[in-house]
Amino acid sequence: MIRNGDGHGIGAARLAGLLGDVRAGRGPAYRTLAAAVRVLVDDGRLPSGTRLPAERALAAELALSRVTVTHAYRDLRSAGWADARQGSGTWVRLPDGPLRPDGAWVPAPVRGGVIDLTHAAPPAPQAMSALLRRAMERLDAELAGHGYGPDGLPALRERVAARFTARGLPTDPDQIVVTSGALHAIGTALGELAGPGDRVLVENPTYPAVLDLIDDVRALPVPVALDREPVQTALPRAARQTAARVAYLMADFQNPTGVLLDDDARARLMLRLARQGVVAIVDETFVDLDLRDGGIAAPTAPGPRPCAAYAPRDDDVVTVGGISKIAWGGLRLGWMRTAREPAARMRRRLARAQISPPILEQLIGVEVLDALDDLRAERIGPLRAQRDRLVAEVGAEFPDWRVQVPDGGLMLWYDLRTEMSTALSAVAPRHGLSLAPGPRFGPGRAFEDRLRLPFTHPEPVLAEAVRRLRRAVDDVGAGPVPEARADLVV
Ligand SMILES: Cc1ncc(COP(=O)(O)O)c(C=O)c1O
Repeated sequence: MIRNGDGHGIGAARLAGLLGDVRAGRGPAYRTLAAAVRVLVDDGRLPSGTRLPAERALAAELALSRVTVTHAYRDLRSAGWADARQGSGTWVRLPDGPLRPDGAWVPAPVRGGVIDLTHAAPPAPQAMSALLRRAMERLDAELAGHGYGPDGLPALRERVAARFTARGLPTDPDQIVVTSGALHAIGTALGELAGPGDRVLVENPTYPAVLDLIDDVRALPVPVALDREPVQTALPRAARQTAARVAYLMADFQNPTGVLLDDDARARLMLRLARQGVVAIVDETFVDLDLRDGGIAAPTAPGPRPCAAYAPRDDDVVTVGGISKIAWGGLRLGWMRTAREPAARMRRRLARAQISPPILEQLIGVEVLDALDDLRAERIGPLRAQRDRLVAEVGAEFPDWRVQVPDGGLMLWYDLRTEMSTALSAVAPRHGLSLAPGPRFGPGRAFEDRLRLPFTHPEPVLAEAVRRLRRAVDDVGAGPVPEARADLVV
């Protein structure tokens, strides 16, 4: 995401922490350093417009020679990733160039032929074409009116509410707020619930875009580790310790770990958070991608009930969902479910920025929800095969990498057993691969030894991606993780 820099500098120690061990790369150290800085600028951790530390200070932090840092800064300037300002140092910037649909700049080596593993979003299923045509037919009937409807189409809200009810959470259409995607819903909920200085609990690792949204409302993310203690005790404990009043979490195939919380965990978590006065924003983006036989949406073996079903009151939880993953990311349609009164407040907040949600998108949403079983049937088989193929390919190529194979969702969260994720993302474009560095999934410095690999591409593409990954890893040539650092993964 492009973010305008605030014109401030970053300290040498902080930048060194974000960069990780840049001495681990193959080839000249200045190139590895420049590539690692580019990754940070490209993914937004180092906002465009930030002043880099003095060369001598950064060299000392990284245990590199000053000449190496000088060369790296020169490299960044000549490639358009930084500007020198007379007497005031070097400032990073996003170079002029084409933009990806998500707004990130496409670095030159990434253009054309690249396999993009930064997005966990599958292409639209075949069934979408027929649904789009039917939505267009419904649109004809709407053209006689003025087209505005700030509350959202009743037909859509009824369907969203009916689906919650069918999953064991009785819901009235008045409790549904229509948004332009799940991320829009999360941003709106955060805007309503959190302000400057407030603490917002997040699972660590978490979905990176939400960290940016928390930043946007000037709140502070409180990362809560998931590997030592179950989420149902860890989150409430963190709420007690930090006086946080808001939590953002994913109970259905968490991004990036793929973890699914069972009924018991949901019940405990929701009760404890409510007792602490914490409102939970529960993101159900992946709920329809249950890859087990008879999954959540299958009538034969209903999965866990929505988290909100276990909360004492409807306004303890804002449940967020959308159609990006089951249908298509290009459709900007999502929703929130909460109690009637806060739902009305959210609608008023939304209406200030956007007169009403787009009608065509909502009509498509109606079709998608009516065809959910068909869409699932088309999606599940290939996704399952792709997941298993990626696990097999990575297992054969990197036998020491570890993964907890998830029952659903779109991604695998690998433990690389070596701290190289940022360096690996930096060299990957040279090998026709685009990767999201592990540290992007948390607000701190953790996850340098993790890599999220989505299984959203067809099997042959995934196999080719792993071949390219092999070449990229060889390019990094990192050593083993020292014992003491491995423990740092919080
Ligand atoms: C956990 C999670 N929430 C929300 C979103 C965004 O959803 P939407 O496209 O509906 O805005 C994503 C997209 O990847 C996601 O992974």
